[in-house]
Amino acid sequence: MIVPFLDLKRMHKAQKEKLSFAFGKVLDEGLFSGGAAVTEFQGELESWLEVKHAIGLGNGTDALELALKALGIGVGDEVIVPALTWVSTAEVVKLVGAEPIFADTDENGLISRNWTGLCTEKTRAIIPVHLYGKMVPMEALVQEAKKRNLYVVEDAAQSFGAVQNGKASGTWGDIGALSFYPTKNLAALGEAGACVTNDSKLMGLISLLSNHGQPKRDDHELAGRNARIDSLQASFLSAQLSFFSEFQVRRKELAEAYLEALKDIQELTLPEDILSKDHNAHLFVIKTKRRNELMKYLEGEGIGTAIHYPKILPDLEPFKSEGSFAVARKITETCLSLPLNPYLSDKEIEYVTDCIRRFFTKK
Ligand SMILES: Cc1ncc(COP(=O)(O)O)c(C=O)c1O
Repeated sequence: MIVPFLDLKRMHKAQKEKLSFAFGKVLDEGLFSGGAAVTEFQGELESWLEVKHAIGLGNGTDALELALKALGIGVGDEVIVPALTWVSTAEVVKLVGAEPIFADTDENGLISRNWTGLCTEKTRAIIPVHLYGKMVPMEALVQEAKKRNLYVVEDAAQSFGAVQNGKASGTWGDIGALSFYPTKNLAALGEAGACVTNDSKLMGLISLLSNHGQPKRDDHELAGRNARIDSLQASFLSAQLSFFSEFQVRRKELAEAYLEALKDIQELTLPEDILSKDHNAHLFVIKTKRRNELMKYLEGEGIGTAIHYPKILPDLEPFKSEGSFAVARKITETCLSLPLNPYLSDKEIEYVTDCIRRFFTKK
């Protein structure tokens, strides 16, 4: 049996029909930038997340960068970020001219509570990342940040749909950055992202920055750029949103099946929090000292896996930073993401777990 990590060709028939309809609608309207598709999708995001403003953007990296720009973060400023995350989180700090200051993570890969010890008089913001779809405890983080007069930019690129204490991921900080990259739980058929905020002034700034600083055509209030969402992607995303809840149920079912089948393997650490509301089951990440061996074995059995991520950012050339980052580093050496997406069958999950059990019982 072949079990791909994620095969986007498997989209359901109903989904394909709705997506074709969304494509046809935009084609008929002949409006490929801005227009009703974008306004509608932004409105849907706002009600879905119970947030005042959502601004569709070109991708999640743009969303993070524009968030920092809107908050006035730049040269001479420091921004605290976790050592383990997708590169965008630290990259955007550099792009606005500020310095990323790396904090170690906890065992789940979430920014360590000790980040407060990294604050200096230059610190202006913190970017918590809801890694693998699991939310950082936000109540405490926002409180600590407020005490220190720091902005919170939530990197909710992986956590769309996760909710903590009744509040959606992305809506806890001053600004939330979302990504709709095709592998995400809410996926575009290309590149797309969004910023969400309850602050009307920030929303106005992000909106200007994403559209050449224009409040209206040929009137430029500030130097911005083009970071607008594509109308077609907005239209696809509205269609995808209609399947989202159903897909989340399926993700959780599959995650539960993994947990049940793998629970007795001593050499494995499982993501137990994955069934809670503040985890959107984006990735099913197991940990084992025999990670490389297991990955190779599964590949030989036709099973696709991935490593999120093989390196911590402070070890990478553009971000070189001193420090041990021992917990995050250990995750890079032991983590393995198993296939988890709504297109998988029960039989496929059974096959994956049978193979894993066989691996750990063979000599
Ligand atoms: C944690 C994290 N931050 C930021 C991003 C950037 O999003 P995008 O790929 O849409 O630019 C991603 C997605 O890849 C991500 O996983």
